[in-house]
Amino acid sequence: MMNKSFLTVLVLVVSIFGLQAFTSANQPRFKNLHILPQDITKDGLDSVMQHFTASLGVRCSFCHVRDEATKRTDFSSDAKPEKLIARKMMLMSIDINKNHFSEIEEEMGHGTSAAADTSSVQYMLKYVTCYTCHKGDAHPVNIPPAREH
Ligand code: HEC
Ligand code: HEC
Repeated sequence: MMNKSFLTVLVLVVSIFGLQAFTSANQPRFKNLHILPQDITKDGLDSVMQHFTASLGVRCSFCHVRDEATKRTDFSSDAKPEKLIARKMMLMSIDINKNHFSEIEEEMGHGTSAAADTSSVQYMLKYVTCYTCHKGDAHPVNIPPAREH
């Protein structure tokens, strides 16, 4: 039969682990989101980040600081200027889709999203996305190719 002090310790251990599971589940998953929703799921964030890497033809470390010695990436750090530019590009894309396309989407035959409960992520990936301009290149081409004779 278990003695009383063992039972006390067991109850204590169980409640500490129980509490830890509870608190970590309620902590925000990501630490430094300014534009994406705080409650975005891991899958949701992953798909946005994949859209960025594929659209610009880069790896995560183009925007996120990577410590080559430890081989660890600090995703919440804002140390790289590219990450700050990316945030402005996100706002620009949201603005283009929300404020410029909403007026013409009906004429384009896409219906209207004026009344719809569209999130900023949905707007960011609606008509003009990172890929529309970047097409796999961090520096989009702004001059059309020379005409062939
Ligand atoms: C073009 C730049 C860019 C690329 C490439 C990129 N990210 Fe991000 N990432 C960002 C920006 C900007 C944010 C912050 C978004 C915000 O403020 O809402 C972010 C946020 C994150 C976060 C949340 C960190 C936190 O705690 O706040 C994670 C995790 C992350 N990225 C992972 C990745 C992974 C993994 C890759 C590669 C597959 C990747 N990112 C590629 C720009 C980028
Ligand atoms: C309307 C066109 C357009 C859209 C949409 C767009 N970009 Fe850009 N982006 C540009 C142009 C143009 C540049 C300047 C490239 C250069 O330096 O020649 C640029 C530059 C950048 C840079 C800086 C590259 C560097 O080497 O410093 C990052 C990072 C970036 N864009 C990320 C994004 C992300 C992420 C998205 C989607 C949320 C996005 N862009 C959407 C046109 C666009």
